[in-house]
Amino acid sequence: MFVSIKKIGQGSSIDYVVSQFPAVKRNFLFLVIQEYYRNYENNNKILLNYVHDKTPKNILILLKICLTLLYFSSKPQYAIVNDAVEEGKVLKKEKLVNAVLRNILRNKNKIKYGKFIYPNFKRVLDKIFSSDSIRNYIYSTLFTKPKNYQISLIDNQKAIYKKRVFVLEKKIMKECFVQDIGNFEVIYSVRKFFKDKTLIDLCAAPGGKSILLDSFGFNVIAIDNSQSQINKFKENLDRLNIKINIQKIDFLKAKFTQKYNSILLDAPCSALGTFRRNPDVTLKIDQSKIKKHQKIQIQMIEKSLKILNKNGFLVYIVCSFHPFETIEVIDKVMRKHKDVKLHKINSDKMIKRQSGYFINPLSFKELGGSDIFFASVLEKI
Ligand SMILES: C[S@@+](CC[C@H](N)C(=O)[O-])C[C@H]1O[C@@H](n2cnc3c(N)ncnc32)[C@H](O)[C@@H]1O
Repeated sequence: MFVSIKKIGQGSSIDYVVSQFPAVKRNFLFLVIQEYYRNYENNNKILLNYVHDKTPKNILILLKICLTLLYFSSKPQYAIVNDAVEEGKVLKKEKLVNAVLRNILRNKNKIKYGKFIYPNFKRVLDKIFSSDSIRNYIYSTLFTKPKNYQISLIDNQKAIYKKRVFVLEKKIMKECFVQDIGNFEVIYSVRKFFKDKTLIDLCAAPGGKSILLDSFGFNVIAIDNSQSQINKFKENLDRLNIKINIQKIDFLKAKFTQKYNSILLDAPCSALGTFRRNPDVTLKIDQSKIKKHQKIQIQMIEKSLKILNKNGFLVYIVCSFHPFETIEVIDKVMRKHKDVKLHKINSDKMIKRQSGYFINPLSFKELGGSDIFFASVLEKI
């Protein structure tokens, strides 16, 4: 756990770190790491009462892991303390670790968890969502374990949404794949713009959107530059027994001889909109990194426009609500390219902000909430 938290702190994603462990350990690890980051600042505040400011950073990490396990797992107290003291020996601070944990355990019932929201995260979110009810709902979802969803390949009357979406309890159902309901909503709402049934998905792996589009009857050409992501995509296809043409290509470097009428660009981004499942993103908002994403996102859109036919449609999507990766990207493209027209997305689950649409998680409250996605539909005129 300690090594995992260190890696996430250095920039790895929770998904990646957890995927490196044997399958039987992943679920527990995933849940505890999520809680660690959901309560990151709360744990910092609690620890202030038990340690002094010169306590080494590694010891603070270890103690925060212990607090998380004590309050959010069923692991026995003695096992938490024993494991922490063993780790403390490696860090040459076992006495300190032992003393602080005993002290915390004596006060266990008095410790209260607050709901601290990172100011940077709040600021960015508030820029996009002006309604108090939406904001307050989104803040509250920061502290609750999110519902996961699975999407059926075929219509099913028992589904909770649009005959396709189910809650994912323990096992993925036979003809289903894991995807967030907000992700489903975006593709469901923009699919009508893809008049040509042959569609190129430029950043396709691990395949959630390609598989959904395939199930809506599209002939998807999927490209991605990451072999590990493509491998996950192939595992999904094998399990579902469907075939999609996947090519390992770096979109920004590749030469294209053909042009397309239907292009999906689900660009790499900060993943800020997935904060419920990846709460570490709330404290990792780094303007300069997000500006780098923006640069790549604009390059990708401009290259997409080059391989888009006249009157063809390009749908730009990111799982983020940071203005740099969303509204600003589209604004910059529109300022430069006069042969592009934006289109209206018809969805009562999305909110229009300037040049694009954001999923409104409040509209999925009754079903269990959703991640936040941004989408913009561009036509080359
Ligand atoms: C947001 S993810 C795509 C998720 C996918 N569309 C889905 O719904 O499952 C972005 C993807 O872009 C890929 N990517 C990043 N840079 C790329 C490039 N230059 N060329 C092709 N793919 C790229 C990454 O490997 C990653 O799989």
